[in-house]
Amino acid sequence: MYYTEMALWIWTLTILSWFCVTLSRNEELKFFQSATELNHLTVDNDTGIIYLGVVNALYQLTENLEVIRSVETGPRKDNKKCTPPIDENQCKEAVLTDNYNKLLLLNKADNTTVVCGSLFKGICAIRDLQNISNEKYYVDTSGEKSFVASNDENVSTVGLITSLNNDQVLFVGKGNGPNDNGIIISTRQLYERDGKDIFEMYTDSAAVKSAFHSSSTQQFVAVFEDKNYVYFIFNQKEKQPVNNRTLIARLCKDDAHYYSYFEMDLGCKDDDGAYDHCHSAFVTTPGKELAESMAQQRQPVDTPSDDKVLLALFSKVNKDDGSLKSALCVFSLRQINEKIEKNRNDCYTKKNTSSFYKLFAAENPCALHGLVI
Ligand SMILES: *[C@@H]1O[C@H](CO)[C@@H](O)[C@H](O)[C@H]1NC(C)=O
Ligand SMILES: *[C@@H]1O[C@H](CO)[C@@H](O)[C@H](O)[C@H]1NC(C)=O
Ligand SMILES: *[C@@H]1O[C@H](CO)[C@@H](O)[C@H](O)[C@H]1NC(C)=O
Ligand SMILES: *[C@@H]1O[C@H](CO)[C@@H](O)[C@H](O)[C@H]1NC(C)=O
Ligand SMILES: *[C@@H]1O[C@H](CO)[C@@H](O)[C@H](O)[C@H]1NC(C)=O
Ligand SMILES: *[C@@H]1O[C@H](CO)[C@@H](O)[C@H](O)[C@H]1NC(C)=O
Repeated sequence: MYYTEMALWIWTLTILSWFCVTLSRNEELKFFQSATELNHLTVDNDTGIIYLGVVNALYQLTENLEVIRSVETGPRKDNKKCTPPIDENQCKEAVLTDNYNKLLLLNKADNTTVVCGSLFKGICAIRDLQNISNEKYYVDTSGEKSFVASNDENVSTVGLITSLNNDQVLFVGKGNGPNDNGIIISTRQLYERDGKDIFEMYTDSAAVKSAFHSSSTQQFVAVFEDKNYVYFIFNQKEKQPVNNRTLIARLCKDDAHYYSYFEMDLGCKDDDGAYDHCHSAFVTTPGKELAESMAQQRQPVDTPSDDKVLLALFSKVNKDDGSLKSALCVFSLRQINEKIEKNRNDCYTKKNTSSFYKLFAAENPCALHGLVI
């Protein structure tokens, strides 16, 4: 698995570091090279402007990869164990630390970007979409409630900005690094109200905490929304018993207390067995032929469908020779939803709790949080 990640990482970096665009008219090769590792790239599809989050910097580039603006974000004196703001008298272990970009999201409705780094416990900032040098919001004195991203460079963080009752919120999924706060999924408000700050959880219970005592158990791969649901995909490394799984979690977007949170395995397998590691996942509307073939599996066949497809890239390591095998699995989102409902029902009616992973305590997962079917 290490080699898988390394290979993919190197591959990604190679592509990104030499991010090239060939202009069709004059065949001129344009490129932008960052001095440090690239972490995130996102494009504003209305303006063509490219936003890059790299170690210790942010860039705003034109479609032709010319730098419009750049911002230095690190290194800064920090220590993963210390609570910001860093006071060198209280945090004697603080040393110049690189700032990995953990989240880089465009909030078009607000003309801003949300940027989170690994420094200072994963605190986030809001920057002007037109001018990323312009930091519109950044507060490092709020403590725990403002710790959003993972502060570990090796623990991935995923985020989704969406509107909820006409307000904008940020759904975040992150693994639990050795010095993280244990929260793996949370909803953060992007507005100030009722004494709650920007980036604070919009209710005290809008979070899922890691049920595992050991750190680095989950690696988040993707977050997306469809209709009223928000979905997360993550890999989970379990120690007792030893097992690698890929899970899909779903919750209702407007569920302030996370009662609707449910997770199940996202399995991809062939004749040789299961692929146990997901690298990327993407949800889209199927083309005509795929939609037709998906419809044929439906009962009754003649109902119109707005079913989406989930495309997920998996890999596994051959235990015998260490070779790598990868696969692209295509899932119907409607079938995933049906399976979630079935598992939830089984949990209540047959007391089959095997599809829960102890998140809601081992004894009676169905009853916790006062959930009623
Ligand atoms: C799980 O993945 C890790 C690497 O991430 C690998 O070392 C380990 O052998 C895998 N465990 C199983 C049971 O496949
Ligand atoms: C940009 O992307 C958004 C979200 O995917 C979409 O709604 C919008 O139509 C796109 N705009 C353009 C100009 O393609
Ligand atoms: C965002 O900025 C653009 C360009 O300055 C402007 O045309 C647009 O109205 C702004 N949108 C919002 C929601 O403020
Ligand atoms: C961008 O923002 C920075 C920081 O607020 C400011 O100094 C600069 O003048 C702005 N640039 C433009 C073109 O507005
Ligand atoms: C992250 O991974 C790299 C490469 O495996 C390792 O050198 C580094 O110490 C790790 N960082 C942390 C904070 O665990
Ligand atoms: C319990 O649920 C799991 C996962 O959905 C399934 O594999 C297993 O067969 C079920 N067991 C029983 C007794 O229904």
